[in-house]
Amino acid sequence: MTFRVGLLGHGTVGAAFHELLDERAPAIEAAVGQRPEVTGVLTRSRGDFDDIVARSDLVVELIGGVEPARDYILRAIEAGRHVVTANKAVLSQHGEEIYDAARRARVQLRFEAAVGGVVPVIRVIHETLAAAHVERVHGIVNGTTNFILSEMTRTGASYEDALAEAQALGYAEADPTEDVSGRDAAAKMAIIARLAFGAPIQLDDVPYEGIERLTSDDIAYAKELGLSLKLIGTAERLDGGISVRVYPAFLYGAHPLASVVGSFNAVTIESTAITEITLSGPGAGGPQTASAVLGDVISAMIPPPTLPAPAVSEPLATDVVSAFYLHLEVADRPGVLAQIAEILGLQEVSVKSVVQRGMGDDARLEMVLHPVLESRFKAAVDLIARLEFMRSEPRFVRVIEEIFEETP
Ligand SMILES: NC(=O)c1ccc[n+]([C@@H]2O[C@H](COP(=O)([O-])OP(=O)(O)OC[C@H]3O[C@@H](n4cnc5c(N)ncnc54)[C@H](OP(=O)(O)O)[C@@H]3O)[C@@H](O)[C@H]2O)c1
Repeated sequence: MTFRVGLLGHGTVGAAFHELLDERAPAIEAAVGQRPEVTGVLTRSRGDFDDIVARSDLVVELIGGVEPARDYILRAIEAGRHVVTANKAVLSQHGEEIYDAARRARVQLRFEAAVGGVVPVIRVIHETLAAAHVERVHGIVNGTTNFILSEMTRTGASYEDALAEAQALGYAEADPTEDVSGRDAAAKMAIIARLAFGAPIQLDDVPYEGIERLTSDDIAYAKELGLSLKLIGTAERLDGGISVRVYPAFLYGAHPLASVVGSFNAVTIESTAITEITLSGPGAGGPQTASAVLGDVISAMIPPPTLPAPAVSEPLATDVVSAFYLHLEVADRPGVLAQIAEILGLQEVSVKSVVQRGMGDDARLEMVLHPVLESRFKAAVDLIARLEFMRSEPRFVRVIEEIFEETP
């Protein structure tokens, strides 16, 4: 028996998916009892959408972007077709409308390749950990920025040189804004948070900071302290609600994400029931993403869980607790450290370690601070920035302190 697949988009991922499906069809038929076959392809220059839907059991959307992908996904669902997509843009901005349509039409909507490339984070949160109360997810969900930060760390290259290398190797687009600004990671974290917490979180709810202002100096100093720099997405339950955010952070060497280098993605899922699970693997690429898409198609050929309606209406938290690395370029004169310490103390920011480097016009203070409410830390930094001996704007990066230990 044939399982008919309509394919929207035949670019990097679409063409790789088509080739992989043709190659794997006999093995899938042997395992599942139906043989998947691409029965229609839509690009800008070929195919007709209505005709493709009419001749399919399932539609794979690999066009990307919001429109017309959103319209095609909704129309395929309304026509009673299962849908598989790799499109984080449309899910992070119109997810509720699409999830709701799929629930009402009782069709499957699968989107493993939209987050974390080949790393099966969606399946693990949605299915494997369905009974666990997920408390926090930390993720390296953008391979481009992880490659750039890894190169800056490995070779001491500047941000600009590492970005140029990423572009030359095809890891970064000609316009890298979506990746380096943190927006791509924010879209993926919105999708993860929706699944993990059942709350209707969208891209607009996720504040993000990028890596454009990081310097190789920061990385070099931090390396001496045993810290490594990553662009981290965090989704967590807090007393005051749910917080989802993306920001550069230093990790201690023992953190499971600290060793994830190059264009790899990785996600750490925490819950009291399971302590933590870390999944890692290639973040993108046509054949790799195609394999995650085909995995979704095979899952849809076997009956499924559907995404439940949002279960909680917890507020989004506006302030969170973080530890910080703080880098200050100061004039080298008596009393400098005392004034800085006084401001930090007034804002209840306590210092874990401080190192002074250089002398005279080259004097710098590098501090690691204990966890504190971000609003208090930022108030302290605003005051420090105004001190007359400061030679440049303070620079800071969050530090993630958790280290997981095996429980007997
Ligand atoms: N590339 C990756 O490594 C990767 C990794 C994870 C997820 N994804 C996701 O996978 C999806 C596809 O990415 P991609 O890299 O394969 O994109 P791509 O290479 O740009 O291919 C896009 C395809 O969609 C078609 N298309 C664009 N606009 C269309 C329209 N208005 N009507 C019909 N067809 C249209 C294009 O047609 P033409 O052939 O006529 O131009 C092309 O075949 C995106 O959602 C992306 O975020 C990609």
